[in-house]
Amino acid sequence: MEVNSVQKWVLLWCIVLFISSGLVHCDVTYDRKAIVINGQRRLLFSGSIHYPRSTPEMWEDLINKAKEGGLDVVETYVFWNVHEPSPGNYNFEGRYDLVRFVKTIQKAGLYAHLRIGPYVCAEWNFGGFPVWLKYVPGISFRADNEPFKNAMKGYAEKIVNLMKSHNLFESQGGPIILSQIENEYGPQAKVLGAPGHQYATWAANMAVGLDTGVPWVMCKEEDAPDPVINTCNGFYCDNFFPNKPYKPAIWTEAWSGWFSEFGGPLHQRPVQDLAFAVAQFIQRGGSFVNYYMYHGGTNFGRTAGGPFITTSYDYDAPIDEYGLIRQPKYGHLKELHRAVKMCEKSIVSADPAITSLGNLQQAYVYSSETGVCAAFLSNNDWKSAARVMFNNMHYNLPPWSISILPDCRNVVFNTAKVGVQTSKMDMLPTNSEMLSWETYSEDISALDDSSSIRSFGLLEQINVTRDTSDYLWYITSVDIGSTESFLHGGELPTLIVETTGHAMHVFINGQLSGSAFGTRKNRRFVFKGKVNLRAGSNRIALLSVAVGLPNIGGHFETWSTGVLGPVAIQGLDQGKWDLSWAKWTYQVGLKGEAMNLVSTNGISAVDWMQGSLVAQKQQPLTWHKAYFNTPEGDEPLALDMSSMGKGQVWINGQSIGRYWTAYATGDCNGCQYSGTFRPPKCQLGCGEPTQKWYHVPRSWLKPTQNLLVLFEELGGDPTRIFLVKRSVTNVCSNVAEYHPNIKNWQIENYGKTEEFHLPKVRIHCAPGQSISSIKFASFGTPLGTCGSFKQGTCHAPDSHAVVEKKCLGRQTCAVTISNSNFGEDPCPNVLKRLSVEAHCTPTQN
Ligand code: GAL
Repeated sequence: MEVNSVQKWVLLWCIVLFISSGLVHCDVTYDRKAIVINGQRRLLFSGSIHYPRSTPEMWEDLINKAKEGGLDVVETYVFWNVHEPSPGNYNFEGRYDLVRFVKTIQKAGLYAHLRIGPYVCAEWNFGGFPVWLKYVPGISFRADNEPFKNAMKGYAEKIVNLMKSHNLFESQGGPIILSQIENEYGPQAKVLGAPGHQYATWAANMAVGLDTGVPWVMCKEEDAPDPVINTCNGFYCDNFFPNKPYKPAIWTEAWSGWFSEFGGPLHQRPVQDLAFAVAQFIQRGGSFVNYYMYHGGTNFGRTAGGPFITTSYDYDAPIDEYGLIRQPKYGHLKELHRAVKMCEKSIVSADPAITSLGNLQQAYVYSSETGVCAAFLSNNDWKSAARVMFNNMHYNLPPWSISILPDCRNVVFNTAKVGVQTSKMDMLPTNSEMLSWETYSEDISALDDSSSIRSFGLLEQINVTRDTSDYLWYITSVDIGSTESFLHGGELPTLIVETTGHAMHVFINGQLSGSAFGTRKNRRFVFKGKVNLRAGSNRIALLSVAVGLPNIGGHFETWSTGVLGPVAIQGLDQGKWDLSWAKWTYQVGLKGEAMNLVSTNGISAVDWMQGSLVAQKQQPLTWHKAYFNTPEGDEPLALDMSSMGKGQVWINGQSIGRYWTAYATGDCNGCQYSGTFRPPKCQLGCGEPTQKWYHVPRSWLKPTQNLLVLFEELGGDPTRIFLVKRSVTNVCSNVAEYHPNIKNWQIENYGKTEEFHLPKVRIHCAPGQSISSIKFASFGTPLGTCGSFKQGTCHAPDSHAVVEKKCLGRQTCAVTISNSNFGEDPCPNVLKRLSVEAHCTPTQN
């Protein structure tokens, strides 16, 4: 792909100036106020989009949407474990094509921030480390340890050289303006003391030595040595200051929402609070904000971290998991970015003068020598609105909000006043049926065959599987004498298995006897259940299941998974029988995995049974397959898996990810935007499966005969799996007319451009849809919010007719907010608004 022409020009200009004056640098630098690009301090908005969490076919659209949302930078981690699956074997193909991703950012004219890690956390399997790294002799992760440092340096060099070979650093005319080494090492360094500090210093120096020509950052690492910039991560960063007065304040992770785990609720972060937090950071001089995540996407395959991180990594981000714009989050932030950019010149050139406007109210005023003035008026009171006096004018500040005044007079944005469209998304049925269901029972009769490993005692799971599969069988047998009391009417014995995770199914003589699960915070759990043994030999087979390797912490080499015991049977005549040191046989993975049943070529390896012939709805350990045709249209697609239990699903051989319909427990009682946000504050989906929809990327499909294969651990009814499409159903917009002052000021400053002309209500249905009815329209003083609008005391009688005329039958429409548009002023001297709720339906051809 070509270097875009603006960047070429800038590079050329830099070189000419550099040669002629020796003063101007083309590389990116920084000072106490901001990142400096080509000699200019920049106030930058950035968003995280992780390339393997979407498909290359989605990247351009996601990045363009990021640009349209007012971002300057796209940030991504680089995921070591997908790029180097075995030592020295690299993979940069398909979803892992990092160069293509960065070039797509460049093509859109945006900058990139590359967080190389190599530790990334990110709710990603093993925090991004390849599992083979655990087996490098003498290794100690994220520590001052030669084997670890050698491997880390080799990988960082590999990535930096790859970027350099495509001229992707800004110093080479490319888009990358920043890079990160390590990730949130501060807390780890504290635990380790001096050796931790030595490692952090080594990591920083190693990175700087890679000579990228752009600055390095370390997030959450107060000790970041010069010239590395330490940065902040969190829900709020208004109290953050870098460790040296000559470094700018950078917020590398402004958490836009939160991740979810199977069995837990979904989390939402109200956009009013996110906008408030960002405005707080900017008002006191912050100049770089990265939303983590801007698009969260999907943990395809077995990439989810854990344990128990869901396949969906939606994150309540401004662009949803499927690549659709989430409103009002996206639009409100876009308006925030525009308002802040109006103040950019003042903010990067001056320090704020802070004055008190009340107990919890303040003004931050930036006045530059050239006479430009911008102000932020903040109300930190989470309970009450405040009326403040600033520059001899009155301003109303809603609770927990900041107003932005790019000219120190007129408010162009308030973080708590959401004026943009709200969209309601639904999963709608498609006409695509799942055809010819067939099943195959995972064969557990021949578990201890020649490929098995045998040992006395219990083995750690990852040491055996090397994470090539989630599944590891632990098999042993017990001989029960025919005189045992429980065989003659006594109480059944109890099997007790202690395990370090993450899930386990117990089979006694081929029958499922019970299952048990850990939690993300508490991976250790105990299975305790009555077991139906018989006289003679009994086979105990424990299927231990990893559900994403943990991604947070240090010393990864010491972590363990699987059945580490003790394992015992209680209630026999002899008392307790400890099986921990018995002879155990191990089988890595499923037979179906070994036969590659998930692929078009592999399915013929076994005899499938027609779904209708077998009443196996609740049969555990079953493979199911079906075919389907792709529904027309371009709406994103998903599988509704509510009728199933737990397992993995593939389409045309590509893994959609792990599924689990575990029900969410939590407190879903309402959510108020004001007051300090923490994920438990705003929960959704309690009492429902945490995740029932699983994204099926359209680019993985062919028009007909798509092969769907799934492996079900517990049991379920595959005939009730449906393909659904994600669509916008209702949209609302609620916009106030401009105060006359603002209109005049904007025309003075920006001319009579369309953008700064009269405000408009804009309604957008998704592509392929049109507005089929107007459910509500009122120009005046309407009340309520999207879904519950009501007329207020002032209402223009023509409202509904005017909006219908402009909007019905269209995909998008705009209605100008002016008295003349609605006949006449329905209530002079009152500031009015137009509220609309419209219904979107697929366009009839
Ligand atoms: C941060 C970490 C990110 C991600 C986030 C939670 O602490 O740096 O990688 O894990 O937490 O989503």
